[in-house]
Amino acid sequence: MTKRKTAVIVLAAGMGTRMKSAHPKVMHPLAGQPMIARLTATIAKLKPEKVVVVTGPGMEEVAEATAPYPTVVQKHRLGTGHAVKTALPMLGNFTGDVLILYGDTPLLSASTMRKLLAARRSRHDPAVAALGFRPDDPGAYGRIIVGADGVEAVIEAGDALPEQAKIKLCNSGAMVIDGKRLAGLINRLGRNNAKGEYYLTDIVALARAQGWRCGVVELKGDGAGEELVGINSRAELAQVEAVLQRRLRAAAMTGGATLIDPSTVYFSHDTKVGRDVIIGPNVFFGPGVTIGDHAEIRSFCHIEGATIGNGAVIGPFARLRPGARLAENARIGNFVEIKNAAVESGAKVNHLSYIGDARVGKGANIGAGTITCNYDGFNKHYTDIGADAFIGSNTALVAPVKVGDGAVIGAGSVIVRDVAADALALTRAEQKDIKGGAKDYRRQKSLAKMKKKKG
Ligand code: UD1
Ligand code: MG
Repeated sequence: MTKRKTAVIVLAAGMGTRMKSAHPKVMHPLAGQPMIARLTATIAKLKPEKVVVVTGPGMEEVAEATAPYPTVVQKHRLGTGHAVKTALPMLGNFTGDVLILYGDTPLLSASTMRKLLAARRSRHDPAVAALGFRPDDPGAYGRIIVGADGVEAVIEAGDALPEQAKIKLCNSGAMVIDGKRLAGLINRLGRNNAKGEYYLTDIVALARAQGWRCGVVELKGDGAGEELVGINSRAELAQVEAVLQRRLRAAAMTGGATLIDPSTVYFSHDTKVGRDVIIGPNVFFGPGVTIGDHAEIRSFCHIEGATIGNGAVIGPFARLRPGARLAENARIGNFVEIKNAAVESGAKVNHLSYIGDARVGKGANIGAGTITCNYDGFNKHYTDIGADAFIGSNTALVAPVKVGDGAVIGAGSVIVRDVAADALALTRAEQKDIKGGAKDYRRQKSLAKMKKKKG
């Protein structure tokens, strides 16, 4: 069988007023990724011939999130049918199957999209096939009216007669339409309805009026409602986030990681977790994290844009920021922040440190409270710490600066010049001891206090 050609139109011009946000609804993140980017990533799996995303005015960020797919701007939001009409010029004379998806339904899977596309191959050659489901609460969903010859109409909740409103089979929003008949149907849409909008869903009744068949693919089972949920509010956003986190945690565990308290670990869509990894309670992974095998992430860590090598141990209470690259068996302890820095194999930064724009050489030991002073208020500078160097506690490394292999730096130093390999560098003032000085001090102070009381 030859592959049928597919084009996809994604409708995302709505601002989503119920989100009460300055950002378009489809830009709100799910597992660290704008919801529209999740949908376009799923669409990419179908390898469609064309994809067009319909956005609204001032939604450049949506165009960025869906690149390289082209976008068209629907200047006035006159309804879903009008949005599709706006996209038609981009399809040119495309005659394959046109899949229409709504940007606010981000969990729709590629296999469901394929099922819907397959409906166009039915012997009835349907002009339109809708993706239906039976949600617990049909509420505001369009109702799918099925007759003896297939689907007769999709009626919006606001326009439904009481009898129609009782129908349980609802329109998920996803539809496939014969590309040869699409423009003709869209051009016939009117807006004489409750919302005064051009409803895409009205094309079903229009197709029937032409004597064409229409079909429905009903997604059944427990997962259907979950997969087809549309996001219109922050509460629904949180609901879908919870679904994704549940899936991501399950995938990490299936892949061989131990999550001590799974419900408190937050992953991003792209977190890569190795085998025999142990993740403690209350750990957050932002985008771009890879964790090697046998690594341990102890509780209360916040990690994003970081690579964690095999056998590394992080935390508790550590922060890895973008560009943190930890080699195998590196150790990052409590209250340590690493940013844009390589920590080579076996190196240790165990307590209360900031390491930014730096390299910590293999086997080096960074004492408690050590800081790389990478920023002078204008520019960022680099600190290079050699293999097996020992940096004493509370050292300030004023970048740009280089500490050679095997060098030792005394505690409390402020290092402003390069230190040669195997050198010992100290910058602290000499210690002075005054015999009996503490006793004198206490006597003076208590006398002064007594005088003050009397006076
Ligand atoms: C729509 C369907 C309804 C279905 C429901 C599923 C219509 C008329 N109704 O209703 O049958 O049950 O989705 O969630 O299609 N959009 C534009 N331009 C517009 C209007 C909307 O791009 O002018 C986009 C929105 O950004 C959104 C999508 O189309 O991504 C759906 O619009 P929305 O207003 O949410 O439609 P519903 O009322 O939910
Ligand atoms: Mg909606």
